[in-house]
Amino acid sequence: MTPMPRFGNDFSWGVATSAFQIEGALTEDGRGRSIWDAFVDTPGKIRDDHIADTACDHYRRSDEDVALMKNLGVDVYRFSIAWPRVVPAGSGPINARGLDFYDRLVDTLLAAGIRPMPTLYHWDLPQELEDHGGWLSRSTAHHFADYTRAVVERLGDRVHDWITLNEPFEHMSLGYGLGIHAPGHTMGMAALPAAHHQLLAHGLATEVLRETGAERIMLANSYSPAQSAENGPGDANAAAAFDTLHHALFTDPVLLGRYPDLAAFNVDVSTLECIRDGDLATIAQPIDGLGVNYYAPTRLTAPDQGAALPFHVADFDDVTKTDFGWPVIPSGLTQALVDLTGKYGTHLPPLWITENGCSHHVEQGVDGTVDDSARIDYIDGHLRALRTAIDLGADVRGYLVWSLLDNFEWAEGYHQRFGLVHVDPETRDRVPKASFGWYSDMIAEQRR
Ligand code: FCB
Repeated sequence: MTPMPRFGNDFSWGVATSAFQIEGALTEDGRGRSIWDAFVDTPGKIRDDHIADTACDHYRRSDEDVALMKNLGVDVYRFSIAWPRVVPAGSGPINARGLDFYDRLVDTLLAAGIRPMPTLYHWDLPQELEDHGGWLSRSTAHHFADYTRAVVERLGDRVHDWITLNEPFEHMSLGYGLGIHAPGHTMGMAALPAAHHQLLAHGLATEVLRETGAERIMLANSYSPAQSAENGPGDANAAAAFDTLHHALFTDPVLLGRYPDLAAFNVDVSTLECIRDGDLATIAQPIDGLGVNYYAPTRLTAPDQGAALPFHVADFDDVTKTDFGWPVIPSGLTQALVDLTGKYGTHLPPLWITENGCSHHVEQGVDGTVDDSARIDYIDGHLRALRTAIDLGADVRGYLVWSLLDNFEWAEGYHQRFGLVHVDPETRDRVPKASFGWYSDMIAEQRR
C-alpha cells in the first residue's frame, strides 16, 4: 500500500459515539425517559427486540473508555449529552446528577489530553416533550435552548467545541416520516415541521452558546451525494429531488438563510405555517464549522407511477457492501466535500468529518483478536478520498471515526457493529480490534 498522505499538524483525529447507543443506565441518577426508551419497549421495532438498558455500559465504564481513547492517541472525542439526563421531563427542573456524569467525563478527557466535542442532541428526545408533539411542536425548540443553557453553564468553562444537533434529516425522515426510528411516526412529507423546528432549535442553541463564549459551534449533517443512475429519463430529476430533501433542506437555511424550492415534493415553502417571521435569521446565524457525516452515496432512479416521493433509491451493483448493505464508495466522500465547497463558497465554514465508518462484524479469533481488515480498508480508502478533496480545495479540519465501540445501532440493535473496539455482548468487556491498532499507528505516523 502506498503510504497515507499527510494531513498536516493542525489536523484533528478523533472518534465519535452517542449517548443512547453506548451509555445504558437508563434509570440511573434521575434520568428521564426518552423516545428511544419507548421505541425499544415497543415490540417489533428493534431487530430481534434487542434492548439498550445496558448498551455498552459506558455510564459505568467511562474511565475505561477514555483510557482506550488515550491509547488510541486521538485529539478529540465527539460524544452526545442525553437531554433526558439533564432535564428529565425535557423542560423544567434540571437534574444536577445527570450533569455530574458529563462533568466528570469532560475532566477525565481533559486529563487524558483529549478535547471534548459534545453533541447536544443525538435523537434521544425526552418522552414528555414527545407527548406534547415532539419536534412537530415549536416549543420543543425553545426547550432545547433552555437545556443548552443548563449544559453550557456547567461545562462551558472547559468545553469549547459544541455540536448542536446530529443529522436532523435522518431524525425527521426515519423518525417522523417513515417510522423506522423513534418516535415512529409515518407522516411522509407532513413531517416537514420536524425539520424546521430542529433547525430553529439549532439556531436558538447557537445564540445561547455564542452568548456564553463558545469557540466552535457546529451542526452535524449527513451527506450522501445523489448519483443519478442515468439509465432513463427522469433519473437526473430524481437525483436532484433527493439532493434537495436530504441536503439542501438542512444546509441552505443554515448557510444561506433560505429554504430550497420544494416544488418537486408538491410543497410550497412560503405556505408552511411552521415557518415564522425571523426564524430564518435565527437559523442562519454564523457557525464555526459544519459537521459532515458520510457513509455512502445514494443512487437514484425516477419513481414509479404514483409513488409518494419524486425519487426511487436504487441499489449499486457490483460494489462491495458493508454488513448494513451500504456500498463502499470512498469517492463519494470527495464528491460530498467538493460539492459543498462549490455550492456554498464563502458561506461555508470549515468542515469536519464528524462521522465515517462501517458496519463489519468479525468474530473474535481463538487468540482473542478481532481481525477487521475490511474496516481498515474502508477507513484507509476514505482518508485518501478526503485528502483528494482537500487537494481540490475543501477546507477540512478533522476526521472522526464512527465509532469507538460496537454499540446499539438504533433499529438494528447490536447487529451492526461499527466499533474500533469489540464489545462482548455478555460481559461488555472491550477488545481493541485490528482497526484500532491501525488507526492508532496512522495517527502516530501523521504526527512524526
Ligand atoms: C448515523 C448516526 C449514528 C450511527 C451511524 C451508523 O446516521 O448519526 O448514530 O447510527 O449513522
